[in-house]
Amino acid sequence: MPAPDLETVVSLAKRRGFVFPSAEIYGGFANTYDYGPLGVELKRNIREAWWRSMVLERDDVVGMDGALITNPKVWEASGHVANFNDPLVDCKRCKQRFRVDHLEEGAYGPVKRDAAGRIVCPIDGGELTEPRLFNMMFKTHVGPVEDEASIAYLPPETAQAMFINFVNVQQSMRLKLPFGIAQTRVSFRNEITPGRFIFRTLEFEQMEMEYFCKPETAERWYRYWIEERLRWYVEVLGISPQRLRLREHSKEELAHYSAGTTDIEYEFPWGWGELEGIANRTDYDLKAHSQYSGVSLTYYDEESGQHIVPYVIEPAAGLTRTLAVLLLECYTVEPDEKGDPRVVMKFRPSIAPIKVAVLPLSKNEQLRPLARKVFDLVRPHWMAQYDDTQSIGRRYRRQDEIGTPYCVTIDFESLQDEAVTIRDRDTQAQVRVPIANLLDALRERLGVCEPAPGSRRD
Ligand code: GAP
Repeated sequence: MPAPDLETVVSLAKRRGFVFPSAEIYGGFANTYDYGPLGVELKRNIREAWWRSMVLERDDVVGMDGALITNPKVWEASGHVANFNDPLVDCKRCKQRFRVDHLEEGAYGPVKRDAAGRIVCPIDGGELTEPRLFNMMFKTHVGPVEDEASIAYLPPETAQAMFINFVNVQQSMRLKLPFGIAQTRVSFRNEITPGRFIFRTLEFEQMEMEYFCKPETAERWYRYWIEERLRWYVEVLGISPQRLRLREHSKEELAHYSAGTTDIEYEFPWGWGELEGIANRTDYDLKAHSQYSGVSLTYYDEESGQHIVPYVIEPAAGLTRTLAVLLLECYTVEPDEKGDPRVVMKFRPSIAPIKVAVLPLSKNEQLRPLARKVFDLVRPHWMAQYDDTQSIGRRYRRQDEIGTPYCVTIDFESLQDEAVTIRDRDTQAQVRVPIANLLDALRERLGVCEPAPGSRRD
């Protein structure tokens, strides 16, 4: 099926409670979105799927959760204060400001040029200034005085918390190389380019893992993590491999810390865009923090009897960007039982925000007690929704549109035979199941998608 256009998905996301433009009643706020009831569930499920693959199912990766606002020296040592810059140009006529690389990529619309072939303002064709560097970190002040000494930064990535805690984590957990530290958290960047929905936002969630290894094994682990992460998008999230590709960065494009970076890209409606970057960060970060802090962030290698500085392979994924990809990827239009078009969000059951909808055939007082009993049976196990408004056909359509894999319908016969109907979202097939067997029947169909250990429904 061809990819839907962005507007169709943005409209569904708002209408069905996934993603809302932030502060809409005040005219919105550029590149900022709020996540609604289904958006938070979808986000939680993507995060849990990532955590399951990266931490729960592995022996060599542990998790952590670092502070958002921390000592600004972290960002000086990491190179972000000096290097986390993007070149910006201003239009001399309309005074709008643009990122040069995004202008060249066509992120502001078709690239316009003057007679000499120079790029001009995409809005009014005006002449642009020479590029000037602009730091993308948000600054704030800690304490009662707003001066240079009280500056702190909102984190533009999660990674540094793992580097500065390398020794704490390694020693407290008695870890041996190779091992990884994983973290999911919000990051902030002062993005000035219109973000194409939640693809590029000021505030976004990342899922990052720093994999520490011996320097001579770094290339092998770099290749391993590229394959492993690509596999995850296809096998765990169900993204079609045709819409994914790997792109290795050229030497000129590499970040200041990287000896090699490969992006996993997705084919968005506007073209290929980064979904995750896998970088060989070498020993750059541990060395930089050791030098800047004066505290040695090394590892005692029992084999060689030496202290070494491990290399780091970093798979860095965008959680909110993955959510955008899933909304685009799972949007499907196909015929319903009568041949009329129906919209179905074909989320994998483990990712779907609502797993089971409990629907009494009608809003009838006789059906209600049994329907509520069935709902109470299901809800401790899976994220479930109870809905008794409108016709059953419209309710099926609504559940299809939010991607609920199974609807459980209670009808008048249920009062006699203590059985209900399970309707499959994708095949629309319906089977009758005794209420006594309902949990087993759902468990069989929903597989391993009950919340991971440690999550709030446990
Ligand atoms: N620690 C390395 C790092 O942060 P990155 O390529 O800048 O690398 C990793 O970011 C991922 O974070 C990207 O592949 C993307 O999915 C997501 N990301 C980055 N900036 C974003 C933004 N402004 N809005 C949404 N997601 C973003």
